[in-house]
Amino acid sequence: MFKTKITEMLNIKYPIFQGGMAWVATAELAAAVSNAGGLGIIGAGNAPASFVREQIRKARELTDKPFGVNVMLLSPYVDEVMEVILEERVDVITTGAGNPGKYIPRLKERGIKVIPVVASVALAKRMEDIGVDAVIAEGTESGGHVGELTTFALVPQVVDAVNIPVIAAGGIADGRGFAAAFCLGASGVQMGTRFVCSTECTAHPRYKEYILKAKDRDTVVTGRSTGHPVRALRNRLTREFEKLEQMGAPKEQLEKLGEGKLRAAVVDGDVEYGSVMAGQIAGLIKDIKPVKEIIEDIIKQAAEVIENLNKMR
Ligand SMILES: Cc1cc2nc3c(=O)[nH]c(=O)nc-3n(C[C@H](O)[C@H](O)[C@H](O)COP(=O)(O)O)c2cc1C
Repeated sequence: MFKTKITEMLNIKYPIFQGGMAWVATAELAAAVSNAGGLGIIGAGNAPASFVREQIRKARELTDKPFGVNVMLLSPYVDEVMEVILEERVDVITTGAGNPGKYIPRLKERGIKVIPVVASVALAKRMEDIGVDAVIAEGTESGGHVGELTTFALVPQVVDAVNIPVIAAGGIADGRGFAAAFCLGASGVQMGTRFVCSTECTAHPRYKEYILKAKDRDTVVTGRSTGHPVRALRNRLTREFEKLEQMGAPKEQLEKLGEGKLRAAVVDGDVEYGSVMAGQIAGLIKDIKPVKEIIEDIIKQAAEVIENLNKMR
């Protein structure tokens, strides 16, 4: 029922990507998602190339299904990480924070699909022009680094502007969101926050609990003044950040404050003074369950939603 251009292109069962989240999206999570029929994606973040290689090899041991790597183009190790991806012949990469243009010819040569994350129509068109295979249109509801447009406004505009498949991201955590994304013209969805609250996710239990406790208005975007806005759950860190931004603190001071804070939350479980990145949909997530159950529940609910739509006609 949910065969799309994306399931065909990537040879996966369901058009569901697990967002490549720095520190959170380890080989264990990515392999679990791929084994359950979605596309698992290892988050390279700012990690050195040797770590990324280890993660790719670990994922290969855990799954024989396709999986991807998310490359953060601002990483100081980006060139080395790209070499590892080429050598290891990863199936697909998603990219964030920049333009993957200079890497595309060699990636294509090796048959590696390239799917950048975009937050505007202009960027989506530019990416299509440089030859990417699809784009992930990510709305501001998302956890982590965000743009300005909402998923609901962004996705149909990107769908109309490009001829490559569009994956919707931001604010999707159940079958209703999944079905809605298809109504907007998407060929797949990417979820981040929902997969943090999975059994296989290796994030600290306090991180997951903090998401489970969150209500609809508990996330906040900080860092707009630095040009790198981030959505996270409110805590002492976000309050301090907001205060400094209101006082007009220099970019360097704000960046210093943010350094190492995602790791502190994900690895050490510091939910008070770490960055608990999560999307607005956190308020909908009420349980931690196996990835397979998350995916199958979404597919089942989406099928019911679409069936009901058909009855309404
Ligand atoms: C903790 C966390 C870390 C993230 N890190 C990255 C990242 O390193 N690179 C990236 O492209 N997206 C990152 N994202 C965004 C996700 O890949 C995904 O697009 C987003 O979470 C989708 O929105 P949702 O959280 O509403 O499902 C991150 C999201 C979260 C929640």
